[in-house]
Amino acid sequence: MSLAGKKILLVVSGSVAAYKALELTRLLRKAGAEVTPVLTAGGARFVTKEALAGISGSRVHDDLWAAEAEIGHIRLARWPDLVVVAPASANLLAKLANGLADDLASTILLATRAPVLAAPAMNPAMWAHPATQANVEALTARGVSLVGPEDGPMAEPESGTGRLAEPPHILAAIERMLATGPLAGRHVIVTSGPTHEPIDPVRYIANRSSGRQGHAIAAALAALGARVTLVSGPVAIADPPGVAVARVESARDMLAAVEAALPADAAVFCAAVADFRPDAAPAQKIKKTPGAPPPEIRLAHNPDILASIAGRTQGRPRLVVGFAAETEKVVEHAREKRTRKGCDWIVANDVSGDVMGGAENAVHLVTAGGVEDWPRLPKDEVARRLAQRIAESFA
Ligand code: C5P
Repeated sequence: MSLAGKKILLVVSGSVAAYKALELTRLLRKAGAEVTPVLTAGGARFVTKEALAGISGSRVHDDLWAAEAEIGHIRLARWPDLVVVAPASANLLAKLANGLADDLASTILLATRAPVLAAPAMNPAMWAHPATQANVEALTARGVSLVGPEDGPMAEPESGTGRLAEPPHILAAIERMLATGPLAGRHVIVTSGPTHEPIDPVRYIANRSSGRQGHAIAAALAALGARVTLVSGPVAIADPPGVAVARVESARDMLAAVEAALPADAAVFCAAVADFRPDAAPAQKIKKTPGAPPPEIRLAHNPDILASIAGRTQGRPRLVVGFAAETEKVVEHAREKRTRKGCDWIVANDVSGDVMGGAENAVHLVTAGGVEDWPRLPKDEVARRLAQRIAESFA
């Protein structure tokens, strides 16, 4: 998403992770945003004013009284479209939660009417402390958005929840908050990837779906401003930026996650859901007994997620899109599937070649109005076109 012309006031407070504010500033400027940094005394211990000024291309404000003399903290507070606090220390969160205003950053945070996004960063024990948790709860209840903290190793020899969200994740959260695309304000659920159906605790039935097409669709919808929940089976590819990801294993888990994500304006069912699962998965690993015949696996039907959501009488997304992977009579089968499953559109693809796991896809869009044949395109481009068509259907 482009942030062209967006004004972002970036408050950098005291944390070892403050150096990441430089990378965030670079990403924001690359996306077209104007960035004015405000540095707290704690932040200045970890990142220099000169580095922030150089990367932001703006002067850095760090002194309440100097700002007062020159432009006034109120003017600084009124300037931005969004205030981003990254990193947000435990101390700054506590000040904001309690309305303290004893330096430039906290005074601006109290005076601004712009939305605020905070990216906390602190020691895991400080993050888990009931005082911090109560402050965070108060701030979220008041409409402050949070991104992170994330799990992982910390500067100290310990790990846990407390790491500053990675700059691309903060950027994605900013994009979401400033979303202005044609799908802004819409929620779309996308399923992606294969499902794993357990045979026993260590074995499963799966398929070759990579999740590339579904993940690309989730990214393309987010790029048009939608709030996207991606319900993904086990895949080896990265989460798309700016998307909430629910990770699941089996078809039944996937259905539950889709239902939990409702209500939605649209739902795109791209996952290659296993049609069958082993009827009973024993709690212990199935043993091979010498001389005994191999065990037989009885299969049971999995729920059809697409048909179940498309057939809802209450809370059905306005637009339900299914996929059809076919090896022959592609359009004919897709038309029949559209009616049988009760969905609005079917994206039909011929998987007789190298589509599954490959980078390209040749699809036909089957709607109530007819069939569109799209040329063979990279999966990202198929995703962009489909997201565009979804946006048009909501225009
Ligand atoms: O019936 P078939 O598997 O060919 O249908 C494919 C479409 O149905 C895809 O959109 C797929 O995501 C969806 N599907 C589902 N749940 C199933 C099987 C398929 O949502 N159990």
